[in-house]
Amino acid sequence: MASPANRAPPHLHFLVLLFLLLSPSITAWKKDEFRNCNQTPFCKRARSRKPNTLPPLSVSDVSLSDGGLAARLISSDISRPLLLHLSVYHGGILRLKIDEDSSVDPPSRSRFQVPDVLLPDLNDRRLWLSRLSSSSPGFSSFYLADGFEAVLRHDPFELSVRRTGSGSDPTQDRILSLNSHGLFDFEQLRSKNDGEEWEERFRSHTDSRPYGPQSITLDVSFHDADFVYGIPEHASTSLALRPTRGPGVDDSEPYRLFNLDVFEYLHESPFGLYGSIPFMISHGERSTAGFFWLNSAEMQIDVLAPGWDDPESPDDRRIDTLWMSEAGVVDAFFLVGPGPKDVIQQYTSLTGTPSMPPEFAIAYHQCRWNYRDEEDVAAVDAGFDEHDIPYDVLWLDIEHTDGKRYFTWDPVLFPNPEEMQKKLAEKGRKMVTIVDPHIKRDDSFFLHKEATEKGYYVKDGSGRDYDGWCWSGSSSYPDILNPEIREWWSEKFSLQNYKGSTPTLYIWNDMNEPSVFNGPEVTMPRDTVHYGGIEHREVHNAYGYYFHMATANGLVKRGGGNVRPFVLSRAFFAGSQRYGAVWTGDNTADWDHLRVSVPMVLTLGLTGITFSGADVGGFFGNPEPELLVRWYQVGAYYPFFRGHAHHDTRRREPWLLGERNTALMREAIHTRYSLLPYYYTLFRETSVTGVPVMRPLWVEFPNDKETYNNADAFMIGSNLLIQGIYEEGQKSVSVYLPGKQSWYNLKTGVGYAGGMTHKFDVSEDCIPSFQRAGTIVPRRERFRRSSSQMVNDPYTLVIALNSSLAAEGELYVDDGKSYDFEQGAYIHRRFIFSNGKLTSSSIRPANVGEKKFSSDCVIERIIFLGLPHGAKRALIETENREADIEPGPLILRAGSSPTALVVRKPNLRIADDWTLKIL
Ligand code: NOJ
Repeated sequence: MASPANRAPPHLHFLVLLFLLLSPSITAWKKDEFRNCNQTPFCKRARSRKPNTLPPLSVSDVSLSDGGLAARLISSDISRPLLLHLSVYHGGILRLKIDEDSSVDPPSRSRFQVPDVLLPDLNDRRLWLSRLSSSSPGFSSFYLADGFEAVLRHDPFELSVRRTGSGSDPTQDRILSLNSHGLFDFEQLRSKNDGEEWEERFRSHTDSRPYGPQSITLDVSFHDADFVYGIPEHASTSLALRPTRGPGVDDSEPYRLFNLDVFEYLHESPFGLYGSIPFMISHGERSTAGFFWLNSAEMQIDVLAPGWDDPESPDDRRIDTLWMSEAGVVDAFFLVGPGPKDVIQQYTSLTGTPSMPPEFAIAYHQCRWNYRDEEDVAAVDAGFDEHDIPYDVLWLDIEHTDGKRYFTWDPVLFPNPEEMQKKLAEKGRKMVTIVDPHIKRDDSFFLHKEATEKGYYVKDGSGRDYDGWCWSGSSSYPDILNPEIREWWSEKFSLQNYKGSTPTLYIWNDMNEPSVFNGPEVTMPRDTVHYGGIEHREVHNAYGYYFHMATANGLVKRGGGNVRPFVLSRAFFAGSQRYGAVWTGDNTADWDHLRVSVPMVLTLGLTGITFSGADVGGFFGNPEPELLVRWYQVGAYYPFFRGHAHHDTRRREPWLLGERNTALMREAIHTRYSLLPYYYTLFRETSVTGVPVMRPLWVEFPNDKETYNNADAFMIGSNLLIQGIYEEGQKSVSVYLPGKQSWYNLKTGVGYAGGMTHKFDVSEDCIPSFQRAGTIVPRRERFRRSSSQMVNDPYTLVIALNSSLAAEGELYVDDGKSYDFEQGAYIHRRFIFSNGKLTSSSIRPANVGEKKFSSDCVIERIIFLGLPHGAKRALIETENREADIEPGPLILRAGSSPTALVVRKPNLRIADDWTLKIL
């Protein structure tokens, strides 16, 4: 959202504007517009309960059923037993389902279970349970993965995962447990009691709550944990989740998961933002574990400080958490790790790995609300060329449409959209237009007419098309939960249907929380109704996910099934990584927001969403040149790299703030372009394993405690460590370089010892960045107008040697746009340097398809860091020819000193196997 004035009905516009002008503080976050836990009855109730004060639940009728363990949960407090089911999936995953028993005194409706998030082949990965161990009376336990077992305690009910082989006591050596504090509570559907009121009011809104209370609360303990991470999206400068309750904690709200369009969000708040992923990871020296609750209703999560339950005996080795959801069922997954990458892989084996983006999408994007007209677009495009700055994508925000009717063009400002896109395409550039979910209720608008006639809108409580207020004024929202409607929506992106679009046009889905300016908490009322009678409250956090899915599928269809889509979405849910990128929404041009962008992007990566970034420069406000430059320097490393700004801000294309600043921003963007081969290789890795491109240090150095809560520095893949500069006028910075090996400064080539903190002078021209000794990073150093113009360019390999004078790295290349890589059409090389020899060999799993991808690209330069001086020549053994070695700079551009040894023009084909020997 941008300006509160746009949310009001038209007659109020003038008054709102006047108020805005008179009141400068109005632009701050409007806390009162949103509910806190105390104003949210299910949260207030759950949070006020003391541990072990509810009538205890016990487990009965344990049996093996459907390949898992089935049982009933009973207590003196619940009228109908709950059904519990446990199953195990390959790779260390335990699934717990708890739902109502619909065979007894059936409730009037079934509770919502989120479909379409778990991978369809998940069932094939089940381990069939055929035996329960009952060696300890009152417990049922069974194999989960090598070294781990699941333990169900019957009375009182508790479920845990523990390491095996450490003794027969089933409560020993646990890594995760549920209901250890007896806080599990399941409000079963029931009829209204006499005189009972189910309605809930908030500000001027009333939620009719026709099905009454149906919340679920559970406590989850992470044993052997120093910190917990995850559950985006919140803004917090701490990467580890700070406790929200307990001794020494100031009163705090729980972390809220409820997709909301929050105007001018604070950089430090547990308040819920645009997306929700109910997945938490714990980490300590002994293990990493994960807990994922697949539930798309509003959730609130407390992280409890040690001693919250018993101040006399705090347990520092365990982190307790309390999860509260307004509706749905328990469908929860326990992930055993034991390492950080294992947990991420386990999670993405459930919800999918990130899709492989088209190559242009990982280059630089230029956006603004709004590029006014075709002339403006042409001028901005030319500006990049004049200033020798590469970029790949130009974006058009809502004003490009005809009166905020998406899929249309303003006939005066954008009369020739196809020609405009073709001009960009000639330079290898693409365009992105915005398509939001609110459809203007205008009978002459084809989309509205069609959606109305087909009955495709979300309905209000009385069965009419829900009518809310958004950019287009009075609007309705497609019921994108319905597969038929998603199909319809996806057809709208065909070149015939989307008039004025061309194959180089891609899409931006904004406002898909969904944002409703006049709705409760700026979103859709919870009692609106979706497909199958599902209430919005049950599916709210997944609405944007479905919208993203339908849009991405539309672009896939447009390309005949063989062109990778690019869709950026603001709202997200577990699994969104399969459909494209997300960004962190409407941040502000200040230093705190630059700083918080890093833990926000890192957290998204930990929870599956690798492809994310923050608006470079900050959306609201005008960044000082120094801030803008620093933001480009950090943003150049975000997986998704886009400059964007609000329409009230001054223009800030990278050449508008003076020559020196232009040079600095150019340098930052060049850095990204030179690293594109490395980034693309990492995107390939994440699409296979789920391990994110941009990673917290502890994911790479899980045993190094110093790294556990470092949110200022981050890793790009395993090889690069980047430290942001987040303060104005900062002169020096302390950087902790983890591990035993040394690190080479990426600008100077100077090596620094690992396992210690170094203090560096800060220069204006780059932020501190280092390559880890023992690694090889592929780069491209010739700058073109866009990434697609670099496809035939040669590569540079930067080889940073470790103390044994060895190093390893990879390069992945494919056509950058199609799905042919799925049939084997790619080049994936492993480079190994050891004993003075560099070899290139192919990485190709046996089951990969036969399709080939060919490339004549060569490696034109090999830069060695840490190679003893004296080497003069290299022999390319496979071709029996030699190449010169000379001292040279690590960075080719001006100002770098010759700190490396460079093999000049070895001209080794990336497609071939070869060996190069240092003489
Ligand atoms: C809100 C989005 O977050 C912002 O990026 C966009 O510019 C405005 N909507 C207008 O579309």
